[in-house]
Amino acid sequence: MMKRVVRLISGLNRRMMKLLFALALIAYIASSHLFCYRLIQEQGDVKIEQKIDEVMNLSLFVIFSLLLCSHLLSNLLSFSQKYPPVKFLSEKDRKRILITGGAGFVGSHLTDKLMMDGHEVTVVDNFFTGRKRNVEHWIGHENFELINHDVVEPLYIEVDQIYHLASPASPPNYMYNPIKTLKTNTIGTLNMLGLAKRVGARLLLASTSEVYGDPEVHPQNEEYWGHVNPIGPRACYDEGKRVAETMCYAYMKQEGVEVRVARIFNTFGSRMHMNDGRVVSNFILQALQGEPLTVYGTGSQTRAFQYVSDLVNGLVLLMNSNISSPVNLGNPEEHTILEFARLIKSLVGKGCIQFLSEAQDDPQRRRPDIRKARMMLGWEPVVPLEEGLNKTIQYFSRELEHQANNQYIPKPKAARMKKGRPRHN
Ligand SMILES: NC(=O)c1ccc[n+]([C@@H]2O[C@H](COP(=O)([O-])OP(=O)(O)OC[C@H]3O[C@@H](n4cnc5c(N)ncnc54)[C@H](O)[C@@H]3O)[C@@H](O)[C@H]2O)c1
Repeated sequence: MMKRVVRLISGLNRRMMKLLFALALIAYIASSHLFCYRLIQEQGDVKIEQKIDEVMNLSLFVIFSLLLCSHLLSNLLSFSQKYPPVKFLSEKDRKRILITGGAGFVGSHLTDKLMMDGHEVTVVDNFFTGRKRNVEHWIGHENFELINHDVVEPLYIEVDQIYHLASPASPPNYMYNPIKTLKTNTIGTLNMLGLAKRVGARLLLASTSEVYGDPEVHPQNEEYWGHVNPIGPRACYDEGKRVAETMCYAYMKQEGVEVRVARIFNTFGSRMHMNDGRVVSNFILQALQGEPLTVYGTGSQTRAFQYVSDLVNGLVLLMNSNISSPVNLGNPEEHTILEFARLIKSLVGKGCIQFLSEAQDDPQRRRPDIRKARMMLGWEPVVPLEEGLNKTIQYFSRELEHQANNQYIPKPKAARMKKGRPRHN
């Protein structure tokens, strides 16, 4: 019985609590007025006025008590129900952290970690590829703020650290509006560096393995300068990130701004876009929808993917380290595209593999050299591929259900097009 009552109370949200208390209040006032009216009718005495005063005082007292209780109880319930657990940090240890692009895939997981660690987090996002849904579980929390803002415009806030992630990341998204991608990575980064300089904050740039372009060196270490086509279809992103890195070091040398640069390799996990267009999400979506998993060529090309929680741990370690030079964050475990397809097919339990003709510009190998991160940060990926894939499959099947209820079923998109031919990302 007691358990049922507790479950019933904890099921009530703030509004329902307030409504119930308001109803109780109205019922109480109505009954006390009825009581006075009956006294007048029955006794017709002068002492009745005194009685009425007493009843009215009591009513006021009860009203205040009920309001106070409803406020305390609804706050208590909303805090205990609504938010994931958050550590308490003393004023000295608690940081004011800005995450640009914090409503996106990586940014929202980083938000979760920093919030749960007890920091004050401000997410700035223009919702180009990010979604409020990714951070909605923090909305209303006293340590959290969400600002709809485009980083191409200046921002004036007081912060201690800036994780600068704002930029579309998957090829269909950054190729959608190349000029905007360039502006976000150039003007947006200048604005954030300007903010860091003004308020004395440390800035971490989410750079990318794409600064290595179509690499001639395997695996890629941080000393490699890259092999990028400056006028190709991907240049808006690759060159945008390269110049963003240049800006960071110009601000560091000229203005003394503390910078950290993470060169992020392919990452996967929940909250990825349905039409992200990369091989993991494409294969999962195809398998879940009972379609053939499309492999271009023989499938012997290799790729390496890290799970998002590993990346987030690496970003936080790097931000709080004293390494100002670029650091690769990725999973060095290579798998062939065919291995990915077979594994996903068996984990989902349906689908078949379809081989299509080889794409012209499909890189044969992609793999990070993470010796620097291992040695200087003590970081390396720890989530096994299968575990990460299972979590991501669960996420995508929930998303498909959600989309089906809204009458929209996305089709996996070919990520990169060159002369109309898709390739694996
Ligand atoms: N996911 C990966 O595999 C990967 C690999 C290498 C680098 N990165 C880098 O990590 C960062 C995050 O990537 P992600 O995968 O989470 O991508 P994402 O698209 O999910 O997140 C990017 C976020 O930035 C926001 N944004 C874009 N332009 C903006 C602007 N002008 N102003 C404000 N907000 C803006 C988007 O709305 C989105 O919320 C990006 O900088 C990306 O280049 C990601």
